[in-house]
Amino acid sequence: MSKRALFRKNRWNHLLKGKWVIIRPLKRDDIDKRLSWKEYPDPLYFHYNPPKLGHTERGKWYLNKISEPDRVYLAIDNHDQRLVGFISLYNIDRVARTAWMGVFLGYEFTDRGYGTDALLTLARYFFEEIGFEKMFLDVASHNKRAIRCYLKCGFKFVRTKYNKHDPRAKLDIFGDDGYADIRKYFKKEGDELLAQFDDMVLTKEAWFDSNPPSGN
Ligand SMILES: CC(C)(COP(=O)(O)OP(=O)(O)OC[C@H]1O[C@@H](n2cnc3c(N)ncnc32)[C@H](O)[C@@H]1OP(=O)(O)O)[C@@H](O)C(=O)NCCC(=O)NCCS
Repeated sequence: MSKRALFRKNRWNHLLKGKWVIIRPLKRDDIDKRLSWKEYPDPLYFHYNPPKLGHTERGKWYLNKISEPDRVYLAIDNHDQRLVGFISLYNIDRVARTAWMGVFLGYEFTDRGYGTDALLTLARYFFEEIGFEKMFLDVASHNKRAIRCYLKCGFKFVRTKYNKHDPRAKLDIFGDDGYADIRKYFKKEGDELLAQFDDMVLTKEAWFDSNPPSGN
């Protein structure tokens, strides 16, 4: 079966090799590995710390992730075969040939180039192997590391919007002066804290402009 067909059927069973990482299908014990990662200490990133899950819930987590119809949820290993993060494509539109992308790493694996390498590796597959047209993402406007990573990969800003901020973080954005420099990216609506997000896109044209096929 071709890679294209595998992608369509959401039965994704091959490896994408990057410079520093390998993207591979999810395995049952990935959730166990994820739960052993160090936690993000910054409340802004608390939603990337998973809730404590028992054995049955871990099994459910895995089954949910592999059975979502419009999402392909993949693991990112480094070259020591350590699980360092997850990357997914969702809202996959096989007619328009577009999809949205989400990525996160374990706290201790950030800032080592893994995120950029994983994204470039997935984008190469997305544009060059399965012929998709546009990869979208959204990112909190205060998340400068993620934005830097996306700009390095060739993503461009499309528009800004406001989303609810994860209430589990209990951020005191307007009271705590530690947040003074990012306050401009938040607003309150009633009791709700809204965060500014940017939609970004990487187009096939932009990808091939920066990554011309060999021989050209
Ligand atoms: C976002 C994420 C996937 C990026 O992956 P990563 O491996 O950490 O990023 P990289 O090391 O490839 O690149 C990060 C770049 O941002 C820069 N950077 C780091 N902190 C920064 C900051 N506060 N402001 C601006 N740039 C910053 C780094 O210097 C690097 O740029 P450089 O290569 O030009 O020096 C990862 O950090 C992560 O999972 N973060 C937490 C979850 C998250 O934010 N997910 C994305 C949600 S949209």
